[in-house]
Amino acid sequence: MTPSLRPNRERVLAEIAHLGTISDVPPPAVTRILYTPTDMAARRYLIQLAEEAGLCWRTDAIGNWFVRLEGTEPALPAVATGSHTDAIPHAGRYDGVVGVLGGLEVLRTVKESGIAPRRSLELVMFTSEEPTRFGMGCLGSRALTALVPWSELRELTDTEGTSLDEARTSAGFRGPLESVEMLPDAYACFLELHIEQGPFLEQADCMIGAVIDIVASSTVRVAVTGESGHAGTVAMPDRRDALAGAAEIILSAEAAAQSHAHQGAVATVGMLEVHPGASNSIPGRVEFTLDMRCRAEAVRDRMMGEIRASIASETEARGLAYTWEILNHDPGSKSDPYILQTIADCARACGHPVMEMTSRAYHDTVFMAQRFPTAMIFIPSKHGYSHRPEEYSSPDEIMVGIEVLGGVMLELAAS
Ligand code: HGY
Ligand code: MN
Ligand code: MN
Repeated sequence: MTPSLRPNRERVLAEIAHLGTISDVPPPAVTRILYTPTDMAARRYLIQLAEEAGLCWRTDAIGNWFVRLEGTEPALPAVATGSHTDAIPHAGRYDGVVGVLGGLEVLRTVKESGIAPRRSLELVMFTSEEPTRFGMGCLGSRALTALVPWSELRELTDTEGTSLDEARTSAGFRGPLESVEMLPDAYACFLELHIEQGPFLEQADCMIGAVIDIVASSTVRVAVTGESGHAGTVAMPDRRDALAGAAEIILSAEAAAQSHAHQGAVATVGMLEVHPGASNSIPGRVEFTLDMRCRAEAVRDRMMGEIRASIASETEARGLAYTWEILNHDPGSKSDPYILQTIADCARACGHPVMEMTSRAYHDTVFMAQRFPTAMIFIPSKHGYSHRPEEYSSPDEIMVGIEVLGGVMLELAAS
């Protein structure tokens, strides 16, 4: 095993705490949406940390941020790590942040320790892992691996009608989107340190999860259209109430997911808009998002088909119309066995067994895995909470995660 690292506990925990205060809502909640002033302030803070450490950094045309520690053979494909710092509304302080600041801590500690890795080490802070602003998550890693047609990416618009191109250029990220695509040999491998966002490590009293695969996830925007009208004067038999229809559809989506729950399938309606949205008006149009996931792509696809079929039959029965717009329909990913073995070896060297597990959240690793060997390291989430202010991982859990990440990166960089 290569020498183990001693990350600076006080430094990195203070930085995680400080980053948690760069938010549009008061702590402990965090809201940090792509390219907003808060997102840009967080980016400036990260750049300040990298510059204080004397590390080189760069950004690309969509806002991915790279920090590099050159190895003794800089022409070799680097060992990369990374995650995200954007946060959905009223989220927690650790989702993504542990992987970005933990990765920065690894690069700093390697530099300070005088260890000279053969391969360069690179940290990536991916732009917009969360789907909040443009409806599609992992924009940065999709662009890096060119997994979305450039025109489709360019034309994404937010709820104000601002396109991704307009938003990124006014945030100062210029140049052709195509320039973001990574060379196939840019990295030897990619690994991500992340909080589990689920309860299993805590239940097993285990500090380190070795993620063997990541679920396949899809997001669809559904619009149901009926007929608006006066809430008092339109008799019940004469109504084509879009919200009543949507309510039935949402329950049938839940039932479809429950029928596949034994295979780990889930379906969630997280956003819903009612038009015209007045207490005394019959909803003429409803829009909602459907987030559907399963470890087995075929089960995810089957569940999606069942839900779409129930939408068609329920809308027809009620004289409603509907549209089904796929926002993302992604593969899952499988971790590289050699990296998994290295995680297990390094964790054991740090005094911790690993628990192999599936990630039921998606991550930028899904897209990096389409191009490079990847794996993920999980640390526990208290009560499994995430995407909520009570999200929490303890200082010890965070530090063990960073230690293992460092050990794995050094081991892989020596190969
Ligand atoms: O939704 C997810 O799985 C990720 O946290 N963005
Ligand atoms: Mn998240
Ligand atoms: Mn995340």
